[in-house]
Amino acid sequence: MKNVKSKRGWKLTSIALGSTLMVGAMAIEVIAKDWGSHEVDGRRSGYTYMTDETRAVQDDNFENPGMLWVENGEALWSKAGANGKSCASCHADPEKDMKGVMPAYPKFDKRTGKMISLEQMVNRELVEKMGEKAEKFDSKKMLSLMTYIGNISKGMPVNVKIDGPAKPFFEKGKAFYYQRRGQLDLACSNCHEDNPGKQIRANTLSEGQINGFPTYRLKWQKPGSVHRRFRGCNKNVRAKPYKAGSDEYVNLELFVKWHGRGLPVETPAVRN
Ligand code: HEC
Ligand code: HEC
Repeated sequence: MKNVKSKRGWKLTSIALGSTLMVGAMAIEVIAKDWGSHEVDGRRSGYTYMTDETRAVQDDNFENPGMLWVENGEALWSKAGANGKSCASCHADPEKDMKGVMPAYPKFDKRTGKMISLEQMVNRELVEKMGEKAEKFDSKKMLSLMTYIGNISKGMPVNVKIDGPAKPFFEKGKAFYYQRRGQLDLACSNCHEDNPGKQIRANTLSEGQINGFPTYRLKWQKPGSVHRRFRGCNKNVRAKPYKAGSDEYVNLELFVKWHGRGLPVETPAVRN
């Protein structure tokens, strides 16, 4: 892909198709805007594949329905658990303590010897430090806390560690991403790497990035977790979805997060 910046600030993108580099009139087939921080080294946030209307809703904190969930999370921060402690008892300055947390998960967890997702980390805190029960990934409480924690890092680049002890898990996630599956026999890459920008039913395919999660989906009328999306995409190709929090999805999440390395956290992003 070669981007040529024109006088009006738009990019004319010429597409390499096989060995033929299409230039001139045909190159105008794909006219991309200058997406600013939403595009990093050719990787584009799902934001850039949305309509102008949806982007406007995301950008306006008063209109963005995900912001209510951020507020819920903020309120929950100081709500005492069964043992009388709240998140705030130990993380008194969440704007500071939780900054940079969302971009760095999943992380390698020494205790279990595998990767841990941020939901799993929050559950560990709820159970072990507050005497509460573990939450489902898409419960109101979990989505609120996740949206709040994510929003604190808004604008920070996604940056997961994939070397050292994380390496074998990264490799598993990568293999999952390129594995064809389901009755339609499609890998994640067949849609999100090979065809972003193309129409599939009523949707424009994006690169399937996760920098905006939990994202508020207009279709769901609520935010959803990364693993809920993975389940939906697995079901769409009629493959067996895994459970939210399964090792398969945590490893896949690590790979997909790396796939969008450098993209800014957009939580709560708004998607169709
Ligand atoms: C009793 C004190 C205590 C309470 C209550 C507590 N935490 Fe923690 N939390 C810690 C400590 C200490 C650490 C760092 C060491 C560790 O991992 O246990 C930590 C680590 C974390 C991390 C990992 C940060 C990172 O950089 O990877 C997250 C996320 C987190 N806490 C979220 C929460 C949330 C959300 C709540 C409320 C639901 C909460 N914590 C309640 C003490 C607490
Ligand atoms: C048949 C095509 C197809 C396959 C295969 C597919 N998806 Fe998707 N996916 C979609 C469509 C359509 C959407 C909604 C529009 C968009 O954002 O691309 C979507 C959305 C997503 C999103 C939301 C992106 C955002 O910006 O919020 C993520 C993440 C995602 N897919 C990940 C995956 C992963 C991981 C796999 C492999 C397990 C996968 N998808 C397989 C079609 C597919």
